Amino acid sequence: MISGRAKLAGVMGWPVGHSLSPSLHGFWLETLGVDGAYVPLAVAPENFFDVLRLLPKLGLRGANVTIPHKEAALKACDEIDEVAQRIGAVNTVVVRPDGKLWGTNTDAFGFIENLKWRCADWTAEAGAATVIGAGGAARAVVVALLDAGVPQVNLINRTRTRAETLAAAFGDRVRVRDWETRALALADTALLVNTTSLGMTGQPPLELDLAPLPKEAVVCDIVYVPLETDLLKAAKAKGYRTVDGIGMLLHQARPGFAAWFGIEPQVSDALMLHVLTAAGAGV
Ligand code: ATR
Repeated sequence: MISGRAKLAGVMGWPVGHSLSPSLHGFWLETLGVDGAYVPLAVAPENFFDVLRLLPKLGLRGANVTIPHKEAALKACDEIDEVAQRIGAVNTVVVRPDGKLWGTNTDAFGFIENLKWRCADWTAEAGAATVIGAGGAARAVVVALLDAGVPQVNLINRTRTRAETLAAAFGDRVRVRDWETRALALADTALLVNTTSLGMTGQPPLELDLAPLPKEAVVCDIVYVPLETDLLKAAKAKGYRTVDGIGMLLHQARPGFAAWFGIEPQVSDALMLHVLTAAGAGV
């Protein structure tokens, strides 16, 4: 039940029907008893700028921004924080009291919070990280790892030039390694992260020989359908600590919810089950 004073937010995407954010924020609104609503907003690319600029006029508190609008949101906001600038994309917009639009990106926060949630003893000082992929998700993960203090990031992508472009934006701590000989990069790796869509339901698995990976390493996949990818299964079978992908989605939502609805939400197993069920992840 919502009243005439309900606080409003939503997610803009095109299409938006696949988004799990309404289910995620809806769980928090209900369990925390907030007088508010979070709705899917199907906004076509040609309308995105105008619709985003309408948020304050409609009285919305803000919105998440998803594919394909994350880069366009950089230009449509009045102010962008530093992390969104470095990632090159906005995923969370907050309407400030003066009606100005402030944009941030909470994916790097979500990645690190999930890693700490699932693997409390992971430390950035433990050694290099190897990141597979060079898309938008990889960019957020690289920013997260550099900010956490990881000494070195090995970046490996099928299309090497894409990895080179990404690495060039972040300086010496990020070095590109070859896709064909990717297993070799694992020898000095303390944290392995798959940011590609490989391993997702309907996609081929990520083929990677884990033999060179030190026994103390952590293996992380940002794919969450299925929750346990072939990469995580293989890593578990070899005794590595593993971190699955659903928590990144859950944790990245926290700052937006807190800004729009005025309560710090918690990530719990109940929330995870709720969202995985909505995702059809077969739990
Ligand atoms: P996102 O923004 O979610 O990261 P993206 O920008 O489309 O999505 O990036 C997808 C990533 O998965 C890329 O690193 C892509 O590699 P390429 O840059 O070579 O395309 C990687 N990827 C997708 N399918 C792949 C496949 N079959 N083999 C290897 N890498 C793949």
